[in-house]
Amino acid sequence: MCGIVGYIGDNPAYEILIKGLHRLEYRGYDSAGVAMVNGKGDLNVYKTRGKVDDLERFCQSKDIEGCVGIAHTRWATHGEPNDVNAHPHISRSGRIALVHNGTIENYGVLKEALELQGCTFQSETDTEVLVKLIEYIKETNDCSLVEAVREALKEVVGAYAIAVIDTEDPDTIIGARKSSPLVIGIGNGETFLASDATPIIEYTDKVVYLNDDEIAIIRRGEPLKIITTDNESAKIDIQTLKLSVSQLEKGGFPHFMLKEIFEQPRTIRDCVRGRIGNTGSAVTLSGVIEHADKFLAARRIIIVACGTSWHAGLIGKRLIEEAARIPVEVAYASEFRYSNPIVTPEDIVIAISQSGETADTLAAIQIARKRGAFVYGVCNVVGSSIARATDSGTYIHVGPEIGVASTKAFTGQVTVLTMLALAIGQLRHTIREEDVAKTVEALRNLPELIKKTLKLNDKIEHLSGIFTYAHNFLYLGRGYNFPSALEGALKLKEISYIHAEGYPAAEMKHGPIALIDRELPTVFIAPNDDLHEKIISNIQQVKARGGAVIAVVTKGDTTIAEIADHIIEIPEVPEAVSPIIVSIPLQLLAYHIAVKKGCNVDMPRNLAKSVTVE
Ligand code: F6R
Repeated sequence: MCGIVGYIGDNPAYEILIKGLHRLEYRGYDSAGVAMVNGKGDLNVYKTRGKVDDLERFCQSKDIEGCVGIAHTRWATHGEPNDVNAHPHISRSGRIALVHNGTIENYGVLKEALELQGCTFQSETDTEVLVKLIEYIKETNDCSLVEAVREALKEVVGAYAIAVIDTEDPDTIIGARKSSPLVIGIGNGETFLASDATPIIEYTDKVVYLNDDEIAIIRRGEPLKIITTDNESAKIDIQTLKLSVSQLEKGGFPHFMLKEIFEQPRTIRDCVRGRIGNTGSAVTLSGVIEHADKFLAARRIIIVACGTSWHAGLIGKRLIEEAARIPVEVAYASEFRYSNPIVTPEDIVIAISQSGETADTLAAIQIARKRGAFVYGVCNVVGSSIARATDSGTYIHVGPEIGVASTKAFTGQVTVLTMLALAIGQLRHTIREEDVAKTVEALRNLPELIKKTLKLNDKIEHLSGIFTYAHNFLYLGRGYNFPSALEGALKLKEISYIHAEGYPAAEMKHGPIALIDRELPTVFIAPNDDLHEKIISNIQQVKARGGAVIAVVTKGDTTIAEIADHIIEIPEVPEAVSPIIVSIPLQLLAYHIAVKKGCNVDMPRNLAKSVTVE
């Protein structure tokens, strides 16, 4: 969480910083701030509670001059969102400014030590402690800013990506990272620094991803220099971005979320491209081919992920167990990391993450690797921390996902997990070729089927108007579509603030059935599958108790059409790919209900897209 941007060059920093903050707003949006050194060498710091738009209003008629600066958009961890806790934070003398993404775990001890030296603190943040520590070291040791940053970081326990400027050294920005991402953009006579590449792409496609324990020394007119916290010089690996500015814009849609929902025919096509052919049943995943020995020897697979990615993992479990006959466990990364997990070198750990930056998932990977497991990543963001921390993996290639609620990343993850299951199954000869061929054919047809499913948009928008009254929703599904029920419920609650619970449909009678009355709508995910008859009786149990039923069914399902209050008809698909198709109407339903309730769907309260703190 939190986004940071920095700029040094010949252009006015303010516009670049603000534009960059807008791009990073998905990472946090409870307060924002900028710090710039102007031509006279003064440090101007402006910060405010609220979104980047609020910051822009706040900066009107202020001195925003300067060609060097840093900026921040916050998702509060230490201290409530307010003007004082907003970043940048400044040192005691007011000469050094710092922005930070991450958490300094030992900030309490450091704060006490600094207080003993006479330091006082205005904010409740861990970040203020760091900037004051840097200045204390700089003054006490009479050293340079970079040396003070390096010494200070040696004292710090926790996660950080930081950017620091100092009026005593106004032509320099220092950046550093440990467990939180930081990318440096190398332009022509100008250098950028940001939490991800989106604020940079407009100006240059040449980037350097900073590694953990590295410090970047960015000086005007000089080549980038990177050292480690142990003061050794580090290799600079300049990479070329494959990202375009148009991918970061709404393209005529009112919200990123709706744009991303409608992008899915294309994103799924991109996801399968080069992995399945136009004909035949071959599934080519280089990660599986290159590490065939690992997949052949695997005794068990453990999937680690959070949130929506965890739901994709639950679907992945069924797919892999079915196709590859390897037992699969699915763990919340946040639980796994603190459970002293039993992991052996015969295990494969699959980490799923859209952002590739989720702190819990990253920590789970580190534990798994320490215990000898082979770790395979399923990520979206190329070059992200998780993509780099894994032994191998498959990118989902769905392009930047900016809406905070995950949509196209979920369908991309499930698509990759489907291909992964088939590839492992083919390798281990645990799946019949005709079954592979059937699923591959379904994957090939997915973009067209999603296109057809998106035609439901108007109907779902109309339906959503009926249910804005609800305070609670139940989502029920079975088999492959139990995780779809969890995901449908998560989508609704996170963007509309309606409480929603996902449950296996047959479990309803063991508790949630008590909730059913006229006030509680239930969404049944009930496409034609092996358990279709069973789910029909579950629907009848709800109807018998006066509950309203919205059912997602396969086109032509007259039985459910007669019982349910509302039906949403999706095209016929094989069971294994049905979670991808059913997720489309569930995404649309959540979206339209949230919009009708006047919620900010792209930036729901309290959430952030990239959860880089515990
Ligand atoms: C929900 C959502 C979150 C993320 C979760 C993991 O719509 O987006 O639940 O799925 O925070 O994020 P990643 O996939 O980036 O690790």
